[in-house]
Amino acid sequence: MDQHKSQAEADRDRRVLELYEQVLEVEHRLIPTGLHVFGRPPVVAERIDLLRMIASFDRPDVGVRALPDLVCEGLGLGSYERVLKSASSDQVGLKDRERIEGLITAAVSEFLQDGAESAAALLERSANTNREDSLPVFALLETISKQLETNDEADALLRALRGEFIKPGPGADIVQNPAVLPTGRNTHAVNPYVIPSNIAFTRARLVAENLLERYLAEKGRYPRAIALVLWGLDNIKTQGEGVAQALWLLGVRPQRDALNRVTEVEPIPLEELKRPRIDVVMTISGIFRDLFSPTVLLLDKAVRLVAQLDEPPEMNYLRRHVVEQVSNDGSSFDDAVARVFSNAPGNYGTNVNFMVMDSQWDRDETLGDLFVTRKCFSYGRDSTGRAVDGREARGAMDQALERVEATYQNIDTFEIGITDVDHYFEYLGGISKAVENRSRTRPSIYLSDSLSRATKIRSLEETVRLETRAKTLNPKWYEGMLQHGFRGVAEIESHVSNTFGWSATADAVDDWIYEDVAKTFLLDEVMLERLRALNPHSAHSLVGRLLEAHGRGYWDADAILLAKLREISDSLEDQLEGVA
Ligand code: BEZ
Ligand code: MG
Repeated sequence: MDQHKSQAEADRDRRVLELYEQVLEVEHRLIPTGLHVFGRPPVVAERIDLLRMIASFDRPDVGVRALPDLVCEGLGLGSYERVLKSASSDQVGLKDRERIEGLITAAVSEFLQDGAESAAALLERSANTNREDSLPVFALLETISKQLETNDEADALLRALRGEFIKPGPGADIVQNPAVLPTGRNTHAVNPYVIPSNIAFTRARLVAENLLERYLAEKGRYPRAIALVLWGLDNIKTQGEGVAQALWLLGVRPQRDALNRVTEVEPIPLEELKRPRIDVVMTISGIFRDLFSPTVLLLDKAVRLVAQLDEPPEMNYLRRHVVEQVSNDGSSFDDAVARVFSNAPGNYGTNVNFMVMDSQWDRDETLGDLFVTRKCFSYGRDSTGRAVDGREARGAMDQALERVEATYQNIDTFEIGITDVDHYFEYLGGISKAVENRSRTRPSIYLSDSLSRATKIRSLEETVRLETRAKTLNPKWYEGMLQHGFRGVAEIESHVSNTFGWSATADAVDDWIYEDVAKTFLLDEVMLERLRALNPHSAHSLVGRLLEAHGRGYWDADAILLAKLREISDSLEDQLEGVA
């Protein structure tokens, strides 16, 4: 520390730096600006951010290195990971990071204007980056850029309607796997036996360790049990990053057989792991259960293996819990070790979203209980090796959730975030509420951002704030939506309702969020008139949701503001009745 700085000045500087980092975070957040229009390719302005994001990852399969690494090395700044780490704690790191990002943005703009050669030349001049290294990156961007311009969607639909062949293509996130382009193909999933891929397992380590570090920093010790949500589509897109995170938390690694299939796991020795094995309770979606049955068995196998390792209880929380449960209440080993839960066979979803959207609950416990009722079916094999294919195990799930101290879900795409759809709050919110009711303490709720290089763990509250600033309250986002008229207003309303879902399940929404939504969309007369003209039904639902947030005690709203909202609600009702 600078000797002349007082403690107060140093604190102030640190806070300013934190604030600045948060502003940068909102600014750099990649958001979809408007809806995808069937048959129409994205415009150039939307392409630059996407290409920059794609260029920020290594793609060893096509011999391409990440631009941030190349630029960082060219500038003599060492590893980009180190710059990212120091950017969150000191000004020099932050400046370096901004410099690197500025150079990359300039190079991608140059590429879009004058092509690959010109962009590589720019980086050579400005960052001393080798052309031989950067040219393959721009060649890849060229291919992707061309594919973004082609759009076979309408043609493929017509072919499908005629019963003709449609070319197949992988289903993934465009940043994770640009081979999803061009769109308009017959999406295929993955071979479940490759899950998790080697890359997914490597990437998952960072996220799992960051998650544990974050909890450790907040609570002074590791969480003894974590509840995870695993979805099918996400594990297709990432080749099993969520699965791999679960394995890391348990402290096991996948083993491949002679056919390169992942069918076994082996424990990572405690000396290598250097921390306790965490008890992991997994709630898997119906889609995951259907698509990844070998993976479901693998996860159950991993849990049973860890529960039987001869290790001290303070280094193996899962074993400790299982042993305690068997000795305390006479549970069978099979009941005490159940950790992989999903819906009954043939069933999907938690219904928590429907209950919230229809305002059909009165007591706090109802949402968590509904989650458990829907998801308390155990999957795996029992101790005799017999398949357990959706055995109702409510008591076992209740007990497993009672010990949970943190809940978590991986986010792997910029296209869909926690306020875009109601599925995040139905799953992560639903399980968090179930834990809160059973353990009598609200768990720490986390999400990760494995979509950018700086894989970051955020609390739910931080994520709600970030999504609100980057999307719902961001004029770039809502004006993009409003270009779609009726549907755009419905999207805005839906974001607010999904945000409300995080109040209902986790009390994770600050008062200012509801207040700013009211000010932006309803108290601004010009905006209210626009919404009214485009879609009075959604405008009416929007004001209704805000009033409900206040009525249920989620929003401590100002009385004058509330009176104004009630007036707006009445006048929208009159308008709708007039329309009807
Ligand atoms: C899934 O991919 O498993 C999933 C997708 C949307 C909602 C719930 C689950
Ligand atoms: Mg509140």
